[in-house]
Amino acid sequence: MEEISVAVRVPAKVNLVLHVGDTDESGYHQLGTVFQAVSIYDELVAELAPAGEFSVEITGEGAGELPTDNSNLAIRAARMLAVACQVKDAGVRLRIHKRIPVAGGMAGGSADAAASLLACSVLWDVAAEPEVLVDQAKLLGADVPFALMGGVAIGTDRGDDLVPVLTRGTMHWVFATSFDGMSTPAVFRRFDEMGPGRSTEISTELLAALATGDARTVGRLLANDLHDASIDLDPRLAGVIEAGMAKGALGSVISGSGPTIAFLVATPEDGLRLANSLAAHPDVKATHRAHGPVPGAQLRA
Ligand code: C5P
Repeated sequence: MEEISVAVRVPAKVNLVLHVGDTDESGYHQLGTVFQAVSIYDELVAELAPAGEFSVEITGEGAGELPTDNSNLAIRAARMLAVACQVKDAGVRLRIHKRIPVAGGMAGGSADAAASLLACSVLWDVAAEPEVLVDQAKLLGADVPFALMGGVAIGTDRGDDLVPVLTRGTMHWVFATSFDGMSTPAVFRRFDEMGPGRSTEISTELLAALATGDARTVGRLLANDLHDASIDLDPRLAGVIEAGMAKGALGSVISGSGPTIAFLVATPEDGLRLANSLAAHPDVKATHRAHGPVPGAQLRA
C-alpha cells in the first residue's frame, strides 16, 4: 500500500576522532573516524506528487542558504532511489525543517539525504532491502550512510564503511556554531597543502573508554586531523575553543570539517552553564545542547 505522506526524523553527527590519511584515485581521503549521532534533528516529510515532480521546501535554521533545485541533496536522494528501484511514475514533494546547523560540519545535508531515502522508500513502497538504501547513501556522500545508521560507529575508507561500536551511557554536548559556514572541500584542500596524510588508526584506548562510558577519557582523546586546516581558514575558532575549555569542558573538537565546535561536558547542568557562557562570545552565532548517542533516521508516527 502506498502512503500519502511519510515523516522522518534524522540526527546530526559529531566525529569523536577524525583521522585523515592519503587521497584515493578520485581525490577522496582515506578516513578513520568514530561517529556519534546526537540529539539535534532535522524533520523531513515526503508527500506523494504527480509523476516527475521532485520539489523541496525548507524551513528553520539556515533555510535561506540552501538550494531547492535539483542540486539539493534530498532531491538528489529521491531521484536516485526512483531510478535505482525503477519506481513507476515517481514524484515527491519534500518538506524539511532544519535544526542541524547548515555548513557546520554536523552532516546536516547528509542527514536530509538519508531522511529522503528512508521516507521515499516507504512512500513509494519500494520494498528495498536495507543494503539498497545504504548503497544509494554511499553514492550521495561519505556521511549519508551514518545518518541512516545512527548510534556510534567506526567509519573507514571514505568514512562510509561502517562498523557499530559498543558504548555505555549518555554523553552530553554543547555545540557552538559560527557566523560563517565552511566548505568541506576547502578544508580538505588546506589539509593537503599543510602536509601529508596521517595514520587513520583508531586507538583502542578510545574504544575502551566508550565501552565503559568514561566521558572524562573520551574528552581527553577527542581529536580531529582537520583541526589545523579549519583554524587556518578561520583563526577565530581557536578563541572559541579556548573560551569553552576555560569554562570546564571535558574536551573539545572541531566537528567534521568545521566550523562548529563540540564541547563534551560531564552533566546536562554543566552543559547549560557552558552554553549560556559561550552564547555571549562574539564569535559564536548560537549554542545547541545535545546528548548522544541517539538512533539514526527514523519514521515518525
Ligand atoms: O562525501 P561528501 O560529498 O560529503 O564530501 C564532501 C567533500 O569532502 C568531497 O567532495 C571531498 O572534497 C571531501 N572529502 C574527502 N574525503 C572524504 C570525504 C570527503 O576529501 N573521505
